Amino acid sequence: METKILDQNNIEIVGQLLRNGEIVAFPTETVYGLAANAIDEAAVTKVFAAKDRPQDNPLNVLVETKDMMKQLTMDIPDYVDVLVDTFSPGPITYVLKNAGKVAPNVSGDLTTIGVRIPDHPIALSILKYTGLPLAAPSANKSGRPSPTTAQHVIHDLSGEIAAIVDGGKTNVGLESTVIDCTGEIPMILRTGLITKEDITEVVGACDMAPSLEMPSNKYKHYTPEVPLILVQSKAQLIELVEEEKRKNKRVGVIVPEAVQDMHVQKMYILGKEETENARNLYDVLRAIQKTEVDVVISAPFKSKIVMNRLEQAASKVVHKAD
Ligand code: TXA
Ligand code: MG
Repeated sequence: METKILDQNNIEIVGQLLRNGEIVAFPTETVYGLAANAIDEAAVTKVFAAKDRPQDNPLNVLVETKDMMKQLTMDIPDYVDVLVDTFSPGPITYVLKNAGKVAPNVSGDLTTIGVRIPDHPIALSILKYTGLPLAAPSANKSGRPSPTTAQHVIHDLSGEIAAIVDGGKTNVGLESTVIDCTGEIPMILRTGLITKEDITEVVGACDMAPSLEMPSNKYKHYTPEVPLILVQSKAQLIELVEEEKRKNKRVGVIVPEAVQDMHVQKMYILGKEETENARNLYDVLRAIQKTEVDVVISAPFKSKIVMNRLEQAASKVVHKAD
């Protein structure tokens, strides 16, 4: 299949493809999503196939409005209204009781579905144009980092999907916060830009779910082709770089900005601001190639969410200076 590369002026073509049961990748504010008409079981099957995604890892559904969210779900606790009014459209996915309107393979054996209103003009205009709920997980092959540029999607899925809408680099750069809203208080299943503190401030309570409650947690997170070691200080970074160099290793480092006088094979620059760090992280992880480096050492970063994703990608986390 030839994958069409489209832009924001081709919303009608995208809408037609989706209505015809084809699957299309487009940007959201977090990462690129791979969308199918959520009502069309055969289209949803194509998403699992293109991503090589296990059938028991449910798909999120993107919707344009709170009304549509309510149509797809039931038994919605009152606090959800407040959360939606505060944080949506935005990088937050609500797991709610499934009303059974979407195709059964969207969330497999579960009685719930994850629903999100994305805050991105392209995603919103596609949702508006089609009037459909769109099942849309991240548009990467399973086991790869989520895509933050059209080039990442092309790398993983070109030839396997009908089209990719190029909307440039995504703004947030990391996946949405996923919260289980089926109980008395919201429970965080996946951390993101919207934190437990943010949610607590608005509705008075929020907990972290025990880590294995999210279906995807039984699958391995992305790790680069070479060992990635996360350290906790600049001194530790410098020391470890020297240690690896003495072993004749080609060393790469992930740092906020270029470090003078550090002689390494590769410097992957993540930027000085927390928002920049999040936006650049997956691009940097994808850039790590075993043809270029034998080991990568990452400096620590201030952003908790960046550290969370770095810890998941790391083969080793050095906790404190010995
Ligand atoms: O920011 C995002 O959420 C992006 C953009 C494209 O919307 N999407 C995304 O999708 O990251 P995905 O499929 O890579 O991650 C969604 C996560 C998965 O780990 C899945 O297991 C979980 O949400 N999830 C989906 N439906 C669920 C449900 N009913 N119950 C619990 N977890 C669910
Ligand atoms: Mg994903």
